Amino acid sequence: SLPVPSVQEIVRNDSQIVPEKYIQERKDRPTLDSEFSPNSSEIPVINFSLLANGDEDELGKLDFACKEWGFFQIINHGVPQKVLDNMKAAVAAFYELPLEEKKKYAMAENDLQGYGQGYVVSEEQKLDWGDLIFLMTLPPEIRIFKHWPLTSPGFKEAVENYSAEMQKLSDELAAKLSLLMGMDKDGLKKLYGEMKQAMRLNYYPACSRPDLVLGVSAHSDASALTLLLQDDEFTALQIRHKGTWVPVKPIPNALVVNIGDVAEAWSNGVYKSIEHRAVTNVNKARMSIATFMMPNEELEIGPLESMMDDKHRPKLYRKIKSTGFVRSGIS
Ligand code: SIN
Ligand code: FE2
Repeated sequence: SLPVPSVQEIVRNDSQIVPEKYIQERKDRPTLDSEFSPNSSEIPVINFSLLANGDEDELGKLDFACKEWGFFQIINHGVPQKVLDNMKAAVAAFYELPLEEKKKYAMAENDLQGYGQGYVVSEEQKLDWGDLIFLMTLPPEIRIFKHWPLTSPGFKEAVENYSAEMQKLSDELAAKLSLLMGMDKDGLKKLYGEMKQAMRLNYYPACSRPDLVLGVSAHSDASALTLLLQDDEFTALQIRHKGTWVPVKPIPNALVVNIGDVAEAWSNGVYKSIEHRAVTNVNKARMSIATFMMPNEELEIGPLESMMDDKHRPKLYRKIKSTGFVRSGIS
């Protein structure tokens, strides 16, 4: 059984109700999209095709984005439209399954993978207005298919194809980050080998009181890098920037990339793992697909030699063992 009820079912039973457990403390309640200035600042946009072709200006933009924002969108990433469309369709088809069917893939109490909700750490904790399914996806031998809704048509193929495309993008990004962090392009690969990949497939039902709830409450990602594919019908993701919340306006078919805690540690704090959250919408449900890259948990994580300098940049982070994926991929 699910440790926390499915929000999709709460809304299906009564679209007007917002149980108390979901009502955020006043200080945590979201700024809604309508309250932002239409010309509020926006996260950087990186032309991935230029970046991959060695363009120095684009590499400079990536450096700036990682330092000043911890977040950027990538366009011209070359992922075939069909792969994106099939992935979105597979997630939509899963959430359309009857609850009884979805429950077959439910996460067990102390498990990381499967269908469920964000990790609940205490009785008082406010709950997120969203359901999710978390899957380990790469390398292929870490896939545990009992958590995969294989009876949902096209699911396995869509996830496998999408996963392979995300791997290509994250390898290229890791190569560019290696250069920017003072190594050759294979630097991170030599130190950490093939990284692990996991996905969190999110479904946020419409909410009658989006001013009171959060689809995902504020957190930073435990990953090295996260790549997010999101619906583009309305703005929902917000990031903390210079003390305020900044909305991330969706660019159709772009991917939102962010520096996670691991990359912040690698960079000795030069790159930032930024807090972010997602709000809900009064009329429409939203889906998003987060892909997390994480080094093998056997390996120590800490500032890269090239990012330490006794005089100018003392070591700010201790070496620690990675926790691996924490439940739902967020910390
Ligand atoms: C997340 O950061 O966990 C998901 C954010 C989103 O759905 O936009
Ligand atoms: Fe996140």
